Amino acid sequence: AQLHSLALDAGLLYFGTTVDNGYTSDAPYMAIVNDVDEFGQLVPENAQKWDATEATQNTFTYTKADVIPDLAATNGQILRCHALTWYSQLPSWVSSGGFTAAQLQSVIEAHISNVVGHFKGDCYAWDVVNEAAADDGTWRSSVFYETMGTDFLAVSFNAAHEADPSAKLYYNDYNLEYNGAKTDKAVEIVKIIQDAGAPIDGVGFQGHLIVGSTPSRSSLVTALKRFTALGVEVAYTELDIRHASIPASDSAKTTQANDYTNVVGSCLDVEGCVGITVWGFTDRYNWVPATFSGAGEACIYDEGLNKKPAWTSISSLLAAA
Ligand code: G3I
Repeated sequence: AQLHSLALDAGLLYFGTTVDNGYTSDAPYMAIVNDVDEFGQLVPENAQKWDATEATQNTFTYTKADVIPDLAATNGQILRCHALTWYSQLPSWVSSGGFTAAQLQSVIEAHISNVVGHFKGDCYAWDVVNEAAADDGTWRSSVFYETMGTDFLAVSFNAAHEADPSAKLYYNDYNLEYNGAKTDKAVEIVKIIQDAGAPIDGVGFQGHLIVGSTPSRSSLVTALKRFTALGVEVAYTELDIRHASIPASDSAKTTQANDYTNVVGSCLDVEGCVGITVWGFTDRYNWVPATFSGAGEACIYDEGLNKKPAWTSISSLLAAA
């Protein structure tokens, strides 16, 4: 059996993957993407981001943004949508600033109302605010925070809710898994949004982890439960577990497999953890080597599209659940 169907039987809503438009001409790759029993959920890797949808102010283009959502609809896969208010992949007309707080609020509202409105009814969830916390637990510097303070949070969630009341609205970030100062900040972010009376439904643990440094299943459970205790659901939204140096040895691949089961197992252990999304399923296409020099092989399939020990361990874990 394949991962999504096993995940359903284990009580999750989905097991999914990200796909970038650039990969869709690779037929053997796409055969796996289109296998709904393997991946029951898709998320566009880049094409819904601000630079791709509103490169010029008030000119919205969806030709690229529609590609993966259309594919998910054709296949009957759940769609996660990504991402709205984010400091990165932001066109320079936004990031260069020069706005008053009121002007930037209008810019955010116009963007979110148009983009979320375009996909209305199609997205199980939107990553509304992405990566607003810094790793040391302070606020991440961005045009949004520098101009509006924390007001950009509730403004973004309110605008998303107005444009699509049925989409689950997420705060999404990485390194929340370690339950340190950054996790504390994410808890604060959820509370700020709730205290402002704005709707937030979920917190995405991106899960960009490192082989051998991935927290234990029980530590991950502790971190996830800090958020479900606030009344929101959680999910792993961008899971990949990279080797710090490649090529990985057989024993490193075994460690990676165990690390993947810690993550998937923690989701099974937490009521309110709805699903797992891998940020690329094959080492053929993965963002890690371009960002972390010398690191890689983070995925559950190898470059040749063969299943790795991580795939087998996840599948056994789900089957036993
Ligand atoms: O669009 C250009 C294209 O025209 C050009 O031909 C090509 C040449 O390299 O570059 C293309 O842009 C790249 C884009 O991916 C699309 O492939 C950018 O240079 C590259 O920086 C960009 O990387 C993406 C990265 O976000 C940017 O922040 C990765 O694919 C994507 O996996 C990564 O995803 C993020 C999540 O959105 C948020 N969480 C972290 C995660 C990993 O960084």
